[in-house]
Amino acid sequence: MNFKSSFKGYAERVNKKLDGYLTAQGSLIESMRYSVLSGGKRFRPVLTYAVANAFSTDFNRVDSSACAVELIHAYSLIHDDLPAMDDDDIRHNQPACHKKFGEAQAILTGDGLQALAFEVLVNDHNLDPETRIKLLQELTRASFEMAEGQSIDLSVVSQAIDIETLKNMHRKKTGALLSCSIQLGALLSSKCGVDDVKILNEFSKDIGLAYQIQDDVLDVLTPQNVLGKKQNSDIDKNKPTYPLLLGLVESQKSFQELYNRAQEKLRDLSVNADELQALVAQLHTREF
Ligand code: IPE
Ligand code: IPE
Ligand code: MG
Ligand code: MG
Ligand code: MG
Repeated sequence: MNFKSSFKGYAERVNKKLDGYLTAQGSLIESMRYSVLSGGKRFRPVLTYAVANAFSTDFNRVDSSACAVELIHAYSLIHDDLPAMDDDDIRHNQPACHKKFGEAQAILTGDGLQALAFEVLVNDHNLDPETRIKLLQELTRASFEMAEGQSIDLSVVSQAIDIETLKNMHRKKTGALLSCSIQLGALLSSKCGVDDVKILNEFSKDIGLAYQIQDDVLDVLTPQNVLGKKQNSDIDKNKPTYPLLLGLVESQKSFQELYNRAQEKLRDLSVNADELQALVAQLHTREF
């Protein structure tokens, strides 16, 4: 089975749906489209679809959740690049939202995307109201945790922090939304029982931390034209990162071990986990 083509299919599916949601949203539409439809790996929605697929869940039930997690992610990146935050000028190989539209419009573009994420979920009439509330509970919690993680990130610039503090920050700023992407897929799947939810929860914690450790590593190793954003942004901004605290080799070992452990956990699922395992396997070698 060629899972690569199924991941590509999920990314294309969410791209189409996002395009559809970004048609009639008023004056912010141009900047929202600019940032959301400019690329990105779509890893969070791919996770949501892959979890749902493992439990044979109808994708018509999953689209709104897949879009919602990507919209929150897109908003977080726009704010993350602002001069008051990471002050980065390039995202997805194009000028960051604030470079193109100005700071005030970039802040509002992020605000608009966050609101749209919740709107998309709350108005999904393919889902009963109770399910929508459960999904919203997860998404609101993860969005808050992401903001909290970003707040910690900015408060520790230039500081010597220990690895536990760094882990906690990574789990919040990046892990929370990745976990949410997985949990939404589980919540939408009637065949996903409590034991499976528990396994996916453990799985998602490892994936979430590993993904940000790897992002720290790629910031050092990948040139801008491949990364789509500035190389060495973290070092330039005196950010505490995994490579800074542990060195590159140890950092690489850390995310590889976490990915391996995550993959092993999937074996205990009550359904076939081949596709999810392939998705994690593919992460090991990503360059951006
Ligand atoms: C970048 O995330 C920021 C993090 C939270 C690690 P991604 O690397 O998933 O971003 P795109 O959307 O694919 O560019
Ligand atoms: C971002 O972490 C986490 C977010 C919640 C956006 P980074 O600041 O490392 O993300 P990049 O490297 O700019 O994509
Ligand atoms: Mg940042
Ligand atoms: Mg950044
Ligand atoms: Mg980074």
